[in-house]
Amino acid sequence: MTVIIAIDGPAASGKGTLARRLARHFDYACLDTGALYRAVALMVLRAGGDVKNEQEALKAARKLSQNDLNDPAIKNESTGEAASIIAALPAVRDALLDFQRDFAHKPPGNKAGAILDGRDIGTVVCPDADIKLFITATAETRAKRRFLEQFGTTGSAGDFANILDQITRRDQRDSSRDVAPLKAAANACLLDTTNSDIEAVFETALALISNNLRTS
Ligand code: DC
Repeated sequence: MTVIIAIDGPAASGKGTLARRLARHFDYACLDTGALYRAVALMVLRAGGDVKNEQEALKAARKLSQNDLNDPAIKNESTGEAASIIAALPAVRDALLDFQRDFAHKPPGNKAGAILDGRDIGTVVCPDADIKLFITATAETRAKRRFLEQFGTTGSAGDFANILDQITRRDQRDSSRDVAPLKAAANACLLDTTNSDIEAVFETALALISNNLRTS
């Protein structure tokens, strides 16, 4: 039986870093599901389309290939913003569901487990996951992390305010949409990383997972 670990949380909560770290530790396959929405958004943007148009977005979602996920432009903030809009479209979410579930249940490389990070993994994509983690941190803390990543020591107060504003708007859009909104599954373990570095979060997650795998 494949072990499935679901990691959900808001933008810049550290869930991606944690997912990759855990995947290395356990030698599990890892899927950043945000990359799927970002790649679809990028396809629509590049075609000059409208990210609010469900039919255009659905057409892009159906054409999605592994190659699209490797495009560095999916990481841009503008792509993330567009991804958040596209992710509220039910047809797009539906079109991406099978890919995520197949990855979880039959991880590539015949790995013994799969780790998926996103917004709705524990609630919708893999409600049957063996372990569900929900990673949070205050919007200010997350904005500070993004700010340091993007600007190092050279950013201004205005740059910080912009990032905080983007994060707050994205939280609002991702949590308030009708379909599969960002929320913790009822049986998720909550990890608040506001006052912890990645090492501490990793150790806590590792203990939770190891404990759970021993008792299941
Ligand atoms: O995690 P991220 O910033 O790469 O995600 C980009 C957008 O994709 C995010 O604003 C919401 C959406 N998303 C989603 O709705 N469901 C997921 N499982 C993953 C991401």
